[in-house]
This record gives sequence, structure tokens and C-alpha cells, in this order.
Amino acid sequence: QKLDLELAAIEKGGFDHFMLKEIFEQPQTIFDCMRGRLNAVNGTITMAGIQQYAEQIINANRIIIIACGTSWHAGLVAEYIFEELCRINVEVEYASEFRYRNPIINKGDVILAVSQSGETADTLVAIEKAKEKGAIILGVVNVVGSSIARISHGGAYTHAGPEIGVASTKAFTAQLVVLTMIALKIAYIKGSIDENRYKKLLLELDAIPEKVAWILNHHEQIKTIAQKYKDARDFLYLGRGYNFPVALEGALKLKEISYIHAEGYPAAEMKHGPIALVDEQLPVVFIASRDAFHEKIISNMQEIKARKGKVIGIITEGDETSKALCDDFISIPEADEIVAPMLAVVPLQLLSYYIGVAKDCNVDQPRNLAKSVTVE
Ligand code: G6P
Repeated sequence: QKLDLELAAIEKGGFDHFMLKEIFEQPQTIFDCMRGRLNAVNGTITMAGIQQYAEQIINANRIIIIACGTSWHAGLVAEYIFEELCRINVEVEYASEFRYRNPIINKGDVILAVSQSGETADTLVAIEKAKEKGAIILGVVNVVGSSIARISHGGAYTHAGPEIGVASTKAFTAQLVVLTMIALKIAYIKGSIDENRYKKLLLELDAIPEKVAWILNHHEQIKTIAQKYKDARDFLYLGRGYNFPVALEGALKLKEISYIHAEGYPAAEMKHGPIALVDEQLPVVFIASRDAFHEKIISNMQEIKARKGKVIGIITEGDETSKALCDDFISIPEADEIVAPMLAVVPLQLLSYYIGVAKDCNVDQPRNLAKSVTVE
């Protein structure tokens, strides 16, 4: 028993929980994910398992991204990025829905299966079915040699290392990095991205590990915010564009880790329902980094303030306009909107973690959840 406890402590590398260790590993795991692939100086992205299928991807009628849970959220971000950079039609599907509804799959459709474990039963069966119908299956998987990796024709590993905490953290950011690299690579080959934008985005990716480290260095501030809001009954998370899936992911993390009810919504949709929940008690987390939608989200923040909701902003460093609307804020470094989700999600992971710990929840193994869902 004692030996087990000591071993567990060693495995956690000085952190109280695996979840915290894995959140803090992200500068390294993101770096590992790009190592040997992304060369910002030469302007190249090397991914053999994608390169091989580049032509099929470019000519695909559509790309269908299939995933569950947090991986599905990474898929949603990828949908926006692929459509913007590659101008290819993308659909994102919950594996559990896709597998049971007799989906229309044509030869030449490309399926991207996103999975940390590579063993999620619904995702696995969904791609087996699509493969039978002639689709090309590309896996974006973390666990090397897992079932989804083996059944895929090609793809790319996320190389985030073993993820022990049940709620996915470092695997998510690695998925975002891999999916962004794939989109950039395809866009470049296809010629749907302008050379300057391409080069700029490679540099933006290259700078992510350092920027994540910067956010992690401000963890004490996030801990203070967690203390302040830990007793809230509900949370609302709002984001637009590339940050809309980050709102979903922030809400999912909070539910998983602290058992607080949380909902994520596209910010503009709040007036179609969620705004009815707003009162002085409700914390509303805005993922409001500076991007093309910024003015819009600022007016959404004003709408919440006008109804006395508590605004917690994830904002770009130095954005005084947003700061003035926030009851509390967490800054993230300036970044292109395409890569901003990789940064914006990190404070949300920490917020959930610190609230979970403050409520004495089992953050590494939340009740009723499994790391890998191998049954349907
Ligand atoms: C479970 C885990 C989640 C994960 C989801 C999908 O629900 O608790 O953290 O996002 O499965 O898992 P996968 O391994 O396919 O990414």
C-alpha cells in the first residue's frame, strides 16, 4: 500500500494530481507534437501519413470528422479552420449518432477520426462502417498502435504522451495542433492559402508552447477566481467563431471535474434561451480573445452585464475594453485567431481543476466517468 502511494506520487512528478501535471506539461507536449514536423524557418510541414493522401483530401467532396467528448470539440475547431484555409466542406459528427443513422458516405469522402485513446467504441465502429463504404480513414490519435490507429489508412499521431487524468487536457491541445498542421499542409498544397498567411501561421504555431507557459505562470490568479466562484450552481460559457468550441470544452471540463452544471453556447445564441438564466448569481465565462468577432462578443458581454450576470473574461493581454466589462479576467497572449483556441482553453482547464479541488472532488477520476469508453 505504502509503496503504491509512493509510486503514484513519483508518477505525478511533484504535482498533486495527474490532471494538474498534464495541464502543466502542455508547453512540452505541444512542442513534441510539432517536433520534426513543423519547420517555420523553411516553411514546411512534414506529415507522411497525411502527405500520402493529400490529393484525395484536396479532391474530397467533403471531410467528415468523427469523434466523441473532448475530441469532438477539437473536431469542431478543425471544421472552422479547414473551411477557412482549405475551402473544403467539413462536417463534424458525434460518432454515436453517425454510426446508427445510415449516413450517406460516398467513395472519395475523407473521414478524420479524432481520439485520444484510439479505443472509443463508438468512434471505432463508425469508422469501420465508413471504411466498408469506401471512405478514406485518417486517424488523429494519441495512443500509438491503438485500434483506431490500426484501422485507419493514414493520419498523424498527437504525441502528447500518456494521459492519465480522465478529463482530457493535453491530448486536446495536441489534437488542435495536429489538425491545424493538417489544414495548413493541405491548404498550402491546394494553393488555397496565401503564402504570407501560411508562413505567419507556422510562426504562430511555433510560438504556442511559450505562450502556454506564460498562461501557466499566471495560475495563482486563476486559483483566486476559482475560490470566488466555486459555490456557483451553474455556469455559462460563451464564445464565437473559433472560440465557440472552446466554450463547449470549458463547460464540459467544469461539469466533469467539479460537478457544477455548465453549458457552452455560441455567444450570439444566448438571446435564444440561455439569457433567461442570467441573474446576479450566474457566472458567465466569455472566451473573448481579440479576433474578427471581437466587437460582437463585447456587445454580448454588455448584454450580460446589463442583466447583472458575473462576467469572467478570457481576454487578450492589454485589451482594456474587454477588461472594463469583466468582474474577473484572465489574460492570454496575443495570437492569430486560428491558434487562439490552443491558448484560450488552458485557463479553462485550470479553472475547472481549481474549482474541483476546492470542492474536494476526485479530479483525476470523476464519478461515473471512464478514461476510455470501450462499450457503447
Ligand atoms: C471519455 C473521456 C473523455 C474523452 C472521450 C473521448 O468520455 O472521459 O475525456 O474526450 O471519452 O475519448 P477519446 O479517447 O476517443 O478521445
